[in-house]
Amino acid sequence: MDYGLGGRTVIVTGAARGQGAAEAEILVAEGARVIGADILDDEGKALAERLNALGPGTMDYRHLDVSSEEQWADLAAHLTSSGAAVNGLVNNAGVPYRARLLTMDLPGWERVIGINLTGTMLGDGTAAIVNIGSIAGLTAHFAIAYTASKWGLRGLTRAAALELAPRGIRVNIVHPGPIDTPILDDADPVFIQSSVDQTLAGRMGRADEVGHVVVFLLSDRASYLNGAEIPVDGGHSSHGGTKPISDALARAHQERPA
Ligand SMILES: NC(=O)c1ccc[n+]([C@@H]2O[C@H](COP(=O)([O-])OP(=O)(O)OC[C@H]3O[C@@H](n4cnc5c(N)ncnc54)[C@H](O)[C@@H]3O)[C@@H](O)[C@H]2O)c1
Repeated sequence: MDYGLGGRTVIVTGAARGQGAAEAEILVAEGARVIGADILDDEGKALAERLNALGPGTMDYRHLDVSSEEQWADLAAHLTSSGAAVNGLVNNAGVPYRARLLTMDLPGWERVIGINLTGTMLGDGTAAIVNIGSIAGLTAHFAIAYTASKWGLRGLTRAAALELAPRGIRVNIVHPGPIDTPILDDADPVFIQSSVDQTLAGRMGRADEVGHVVVFLLSDRASYLNGAEIPVDGGHSSHGGTKPISDALARAHQERPA
């Protein structure tokens, strides 16, 4: 698919694996120059090697902890010295923390907010920006710090869209549902299955199913989309909690569930 991103420079945070790696792969296939940033250096470098062999675009792996203002400044200095004008930014890096309200500890809270929310704010101001939220930011998800960080991202996205529009910068947010990536490796299987049960698709999503929406939003094909929130969740957030009612009625009347 041609999104018209050939030759463009795009930063993807959290690019070493999962959705960030899928986005990097789609962008390199588009001919873009990807700056893939992460803290998992071995995985990031291996991905860059694989994608550079595929082309036609390139991936340059850089170590970046998104919660560090200093490391963002180092990346900016590197890009300035290399003469690269940045055309897009995907704020994808994120961490889970599945502590509930009554068991929340302050260091855990601060880590999640620092990476998921502050880390996104620090990157803003570059180019077309896509923030990665979550259906946790659309609902009352039990993981309290994660949920608060993703709700915060919605406000940050809208305010940044407003602030940056005069500079020609669009800022949108994508809300993934349950996506099959390593972030779920240590999640309770009960949580995963019950999340999937809430989707209309009846399955987990794939990283590339989010990636194509993200890459579309980066491209000029999305030129009139700004401050928008797009769930990519197999319909999880669409029914507002009514799916169990529909399913129960279907079961009671022995119909096929919707
Ligand atoms: N997979 C899902 O079910 C799901 C659902 C909703 C939202 N999301 C969001 O999607 C985004 C991508 O997650 P994923 O599913 O690919 O998970 P993942 O764990 O596979 O990838 C997250 C990446 O972010 C990187 N990262 C973590 N902390 C970082 C830091 N301080 N600086 C730089 N990089 C850092 C990790 O090393 C990893 O490579 C996250 O923002 C996540 O919250 C995921």
